[in-house]
Amino acid sequence: MKGINILFFLSSIWALSSSLDTIPVNQPLTDRGTIISSGGKFKLGFFSPGTSGKRYLGIWFNKVTVQTVVWVANRDSPLKDTSGALNFTRQGILTLLNGSGRVIWSSNSTRRVQNPVAQLLDSGNLVVRDAIENYLWQSFDYPSDTFLPGMKLGVDLNTGFRRFLMSWKSTNDPSKGEFSWVIDLHGFPQPFVMNGSIERYRSGPWNGRGFSNAPSLLPSPGYNYTYVSDQEKISFMYQLTDSSIFARVAMQLNGVLQLSMWNNQTQNWDGFVSVPADNCDIYGQCQSYGLCNSGNSPICRCLDKFEPKDPTEWARGNWSKGCVRKTSLNCQKEVKFSKYLGIKLPDTRFSWYSRGVTLNACEELCLRNCSCMAYANPDVTGTNEGCLLWFSELMDIRQFGGSGQDIYIKLDSSELGNSSRGKVKKLVISLLLAALGLLLALCLILYLRQKKKKDRNQQHFSKGRGTRSPEMFCTNESKDEELDLPLFDFETISHATNNFSLSNKLGEGGFGPVYKGMLKDGQEIAVKRLSRYSAQGTEEFKNEVIFIAKLQHRNLVKLLGGCIQAEEKMLVYEYMPNNSLDWFLFDTNRRSLLDWPKCSHIINGIARGILYLHQDSRLRIIHRDLKPSNVLLDTHMNPKISDFGMARSFRGNETGAMTIRVVGTYGYMSPEYAAEGKFSVKSDVFSFGVLVLEILSRKRNRGFLHPDHNHNLLGHVWILFKEGRVMEVIDTQLRESCDQSEVQRSVHVGLLCVQQCPEDRPSMASVVLMLSSDVVLPLPKEPGFFSGRSRITEADSSSTKHGETSVNELSISQLDAR
Ligand SMILES: *[C@@H]1O[C@H](CO)[C@@H](O)[C@H](O)[C@H]1NC(C)=O
Ligand SMILES: *[C@@H]1O[C@H](CO)[C@@H](O)[C@H](O)[C@H]1NC(C)=O
Ligand SMILES: *[C@@H]1O[C@H](CO)[C@@H](O)[C@H](O)[C@H]1NC(C)=O
Ligand SMILES: *[C@@H]1O[C@H](CO)[C@@H](O)[C@H](O)[C@H]1NC(C)=O
Ligand SMILES: *[C@@H]1O[C@H](CO)[C@@H](O)[C@H](O)[C@H]1NC(C)=O
Ligand SMILES: *[C@@H]1O[C@H](CO)[C@@H](O)[C@H](O)[C@H]1NC(C)=O
Ligand SMILES: *[C@@H]1O[C@H](CO)[C@@H](O)[C@H](O)[C@H]1NC(C)=O
Ligand SMILES: *[C@@H]1O[C@H](CO)[C@@H](O)[C@H](O)[C@H]1NC(C)=O
Ligand SMILES: *[C@@H]1O[C@H](CO)[C@@H](O)[C@H](O)[C@H]1NC(C)=O
Repeated sequence: MKGINILFFLSSIWALSSSLDTIPVNQPLTDRGTIISSGGKFKLGFFSPGTSGKRYLGIWFNKVTVQTVVWVANRDSPLKDTSGALNFTRQGILTLLNGSGRVIWSSNSTRRVQNPVAQLLDSGNLVVRDAIENYLWQSFDYPSDTFLPGMKLGVDLNTGFRRFLMSWKSTNDPSKGEFSWVIDLHGFPQPFVMNGSIERYRSGPWNGRGFSNAPSLLPSPGYNYTYVSDQEKISFMYQLTDSSIFARVAMQLNGVLQLSMWNNQTQNWDGFVSVPADNCDIYGQCQSYGLCNSGNSPICRCLDKFEPKDPTEWARGNWSKGCVRKTSLNCQKEVKFSKYLGIKLPDTRFSWYSRGVTLNACEELCLRNCSCMAYANPDVTGTNEGCLLWFSELMDIRQFGGSGQDIYIKLDSSELGNSSRGKVKKLVISLLLAALGLLLALCLILYLRQKKKKDRNQQHFSKGRGTRSPEMFCTNESKDEELDLPLFDFETISHATNNFSLSNKLGEGGFGPVYKGMLKDGQEIAVKRLSRYSAQGTEEFKNEVIFIAKLQHRNLVKLLGGCIQAEEKMLVYEYMPNNSLDWFLFDTNRRSLLDWPKCSHIINGIARGILYLHQDSRLRIIHRDLKPSNVLLDTHMNPKISDFGMARSFRGNETGAMTIRVVGTYGYMSPEYAAEGKFSVKSDVFSFGVLVLEILSRKRNRGFLHPDHNHNLLGHVWILFKEGRVMEVIDTQLRESCDQSEVQRSVHVGLLCVQQCPEDRPSMASVVLMLSSDVVLPLPKEPGFFSGRSRITEADSSSTKHGETSVNELSISQLDAR
């Protein structure tokens, strides 16, 4: 009893000094007490996670409204009640005592000093230090599930001490869960996400810039990496360039390691990078010598000059046996190396590394040792030479395309043979194959023609068993695409739209008219009706259903359901009372309603919507037709991206794809897409850049006229930017309400997005970051298509000359359809 009274008495004293960021000696911090770091970023105190009722001592973000715990002291020994107290002893030890005075957790510094200080730093680090800032103990050495900027993960090679992350067991229980993130020291060091003792994800070895060039893991304008590997230690750290941002990397309960940043506008954590992100990220998905590419179907192939070890199982999609060389290696015979480009370097646990060895010398080393299977220079910075040799089957290889690395794999010399016999054989085979291919293609074309004729008169969606209740509905053609989508019956829709009356018509969408309607319960809806005879529209209708039914984000328009009756196919969306962005932007009266705060809100919202499409949605999607008329606005002027008729899923393959049918809208299309049909997430970034510049200037990129030059809007902005006259880009009305530095930043980001070279354009994650923080922006290079006289615009200029502004807004696929 006495003890508790003393505690109570002490906590009263405590309350007097609670603004401090330190814990005084022998004045315990009780359950009610907290301390806050000097900059106000972090708070230390007691908390109960979820509904557990148990008490833990932890550190969390002080200014983040959703309590986000970054460190837990007693994660494996909870307090049963609120009687716990943290005592800082004269010896410099932090002890957590329960109500009966039993020590349930303590810090353990071995060194003793005169006047120790226990302080919570603004980095989120709780330290015990002496008077001159030597740390005796720090919480950063014992991470929980969160990796904060400035924290170092890795291994002290002298003592063997390791710093690693370990997930919580559940939202209610911070004790050690099954997933961890550790740096593995076997062979050449590399980080692993582990599920218990099973490898789950491997980011690849450090290559001087990032981890094996995984595109999403490269440092961005918002953060940089520091990696140290020497005799003493291996450590990895990241730092934010803008310290006002709150960021964390957390080993989540589901085994996904995620970098997220606090968004002060939406009061949410926005995920920026997550690994594993797709099936190819799962460790050893294609086993040894299998090459994983999530853009392929099936995702696993054998490396060139390799074949499945168990061909029948492999063909069935069982890759467990992996691949083997077509001609097995024989040390007595001649061997050669074949170069494989753009991959994630294989597992380096059975490897050997030496710095300062040239690639030629590296090859020589590998040739001389019979058990060496491959070699590579892991360093991509080009500043130092390095030689990495593999002594095991090569595991966990995936295709990264342009950003991947190169490896040289040992093969029997006959595989790279120069014998003329082999060549003739190959020639004959390839000729035969080509002939066969041609024949097949012919058959296919004939078949498709036949089928298309039939299809025109056939309905594309099978009707649900009962139309009243919500039912699954699926297409005839792709039976695997089953969707959870409520079905409305025709009468309901017809009634809601006043029998599709003209007065309810809102306009023409991608594949038919759009009507406004009101359901019986008063909910307003927008109904897209597929015109009966449009064959083109059917494709896009299907596309839209497949994509949008699976997407959910506050910046994407929401699909409420569908309706199929005989030849009628309709989609029902939430109604957007404020129409679309172009309705405001290009109207002399209405544009005055869009002041800078609204514009900024809209730009940020669109950016987040696209980021979701590119990175965080279940399907990863390239929209391909971003433009103001496809950005709808709700009552609160929240932007919502719509029209997924031309979207393509790319399943985590950063390289994008090619198409022969270029769809999209001139003026918003990136050069590589319009000219070569190459589309990627970066083509959406280009369109976004055009959108931003149009929002700021209230002028259309296409059809832009200037007395002094022949450039389009992009060219015009580029010229002004170079001459330091950025404010002249901004629409005069908008200039009044704007924050000068903010709009200038937006113009700058817009120009970065429309750069000629897709590689130069930032990712959407970087764009969101650049817009919402003060990170230093790189200088933009010349935009793509900045001259009004480029080939593409020329080719289509006839349609603009008629002065029909709406022509600009038509998507090309619709033009094709005529
Ligand atoms: C805190 O620790 C010191 C030194 O071990 C001890 O003398 C003191 O009684 C402790 N205070 C409480 C409230 O337990
Ligand atoms: C303190 O911990 C001891 C040992 O775990 C336990 O027996 C005791 O009940 C705990 N006291 C309180 C108040 O939780
Ligand atoms: C401190 O305690 C941790 C466990 O909490 C242990 O792993 C570590 O080895 C200890 N360090 C020292 C120096 O005793
Ligand atoms: C983790 O491993 C366990 C078996 O050890 C397995 O049941 C579970 O599905 C794995 N979890 C993930 C996310 O892979
Ligand atoms: C990373 O960024 C921080 C903050 O801007 C800076 O202090 C540090 O020097 C940078 N580190 C490297 C390796 O560039
Ligand atoms: C979030 O915004 C509010 C109001 O604008 C501001 O007071 C607060 O400091 C901001 N918080 C962060 C974490 O930036
Ligand atoms: C996959 O193939 C291996 C043999 O190659 C076999 O042992 C295993 O049972 C197969 N797994 C499945 C799920 O069929
Ligand atoms: C080949 O390399 C392995 C691993 O480094 C080593 O154990 C072995 O002795 C080497 N063999 C020869 C012949 O050098
Ligand atoms: C093939 O032989 C030709 C000459 O016969 C030689 O120039 C060429 O380098 C050889 N190619 C390879 C891959 O060995």
